[in-house]
Amino acid sequence: MSTMQNQKLRIGVLTGGGDCPGLNAVIRAVVRKAERVWGDQVIGFQNGWKGLLDDEWQPLDIEALRGTLPRGGTIIGTSRIQPYMFDDGVERVRATAERHKLDALVVIGGEGTLSVARQIDEEGFLAVVGVPKTIDNDIAATEMTFGFQTAVQIAVDAIDRLHSTAESHHRIMLVEVMGRHVGHIATWAGIAGGATMILVPEEPFDIDEVAKILQWRHETNRYASIVVVAEGAQPVPGTLDLPPVEVDEFGHKRLGGIASVVASEIELRTGTETRVLVLGHIQRGGTPCAYDRVLCTRYGVAAIDAVHEGKKGQMVALKGDRIVCVPLEDATTELKYVAPKLLDTAKVFYPPAT
Ligand code: F6P
Repeated sequence: MSTMQNQKLRIGVLTGGGDCPGLNAVIRAVVRKAERVWGDQVIGFQNGWKGLLDDEWQPLDIEALRGTLPRGGTIIGTSRIQPYMFDDGVERVRATAERHKLDALVVIGGEGTLSVARQIDEEGFLAVVGVPKTIDNDIAATEMTFGFQTAVQIAVDAIDRLHSTAESHHRIMLVEVMGRHVGHIATWAGIAGGATMILVPEEPFDIDEVAKILQWRHETNRYASIVVVAEGAQPVPGTLDLPPVEVDEFGHKRLGGIASVVASEIELRTGTETRVLVLGHIQRGGTPCAYDRVLCTRYGVAAIDAVHEGKKGQMVALKGDRIVCVPLEDATTELKYVAPKLLDTAKVFYPPAT
C-alpha cells in the first residue's frame, strides 16, 4: 500500500472476538475521519471475519453512527469465526475484498483477531490496519487496550458495594474477574477497591498461605475481607485440585469458577463464612467510561491516518501519551503481564501472614 494521502478510498471495518466497551466509539471515529476528512467510503463487515467470508456487510456513514459513542457492544456484530478455519477461507475473503474494491481493512480485535489480521495482510491482496481491543489489557505492543478501564471501573463499583455487605455479615467475599492469562483487571480493581488480597495468573497462590493471612486478619479484629481473583489464577502446582476446564468450539478454554473452589477451601481452613461473586460478562457490557471513549476515538482516527499513510500490517498503539503504529507481528507475539512492581504495591496493603 503506497501512500494514499490524497485519494478517496474504500475501507472495510470489522470487529472480532469477544465484545468490549468502546467498539462503537472506534467505528464512529474511523467513519468520521474517513468520510469527513478524506471523502472515503466505509463499509462494516458483519460478525467479524464471517462478514468477509460470506460477504455480509452494511454501509457505514456519519449518519449511521449517530448516538453510538456511549453505546456498548458493536453495531456490526462480532464472532470468533476466521478464514483459516476453512480450506477456501482466504479465497472467500479475497473475493469479497475484490468485489467491494477494498483499498484497506481496519480490524478491531484482540490477540486472536489481530493475528489473523496479520496473516491476511501477509497474503498480500488487502492492506490491514489493526486496533487493539480487549478488557484483559494483555497486548504487549500497547500500553493500553480499550475496554480495560471500563472493566476495571465496573469491578471497582461491585467491590465498593461488596465491602458493606461483607462487613455487615462478617464475611470473606471473593470477587472473580476476567483475565484468562493475565491479572490486570484483578490487580487494578483490587488496588482501587481496597481488596485484602489479589490472586492473579502471574503468581501461583498457596491456598494455605491465603487462608493463614485471612485468618490472622479476622482474629485480629477485622471482620470482613474482599479477595479479588482473576479467572485464570492458578494454585501452586500440587497444592489444590481444580475441576477440568471446558473448551469451546474455537479451542478457547471456558474459564470461570476458580473463586468457588478457593472459597470452599478458605471456609474450611478459617471457619469464616466465605461467599463468591463472579462478575462475568457484566465487565464487557454497557457503556464505555470516559477514558475509553477518548482512547477509542484516538485509535479510530489514527487507524485512518495509518491507512492513508500506507502503513499496512500495522496496529495503532498507545506509547506514553502518543498514539503510534507498531507492526501487527509485535502485537500478537507477546502477552503483557502485570508488572511485578505493581503487584508489590498491592501487597503493601495485605495483612501480615503471622
Ligand atoms: O479476552 C477477553 C475475555 O473477556 C476473557 O477475559 C474471558 O476469559 C473471555 O473473554 C470470555 O469470553 P467468552 O465468554 O465470550 O467466550
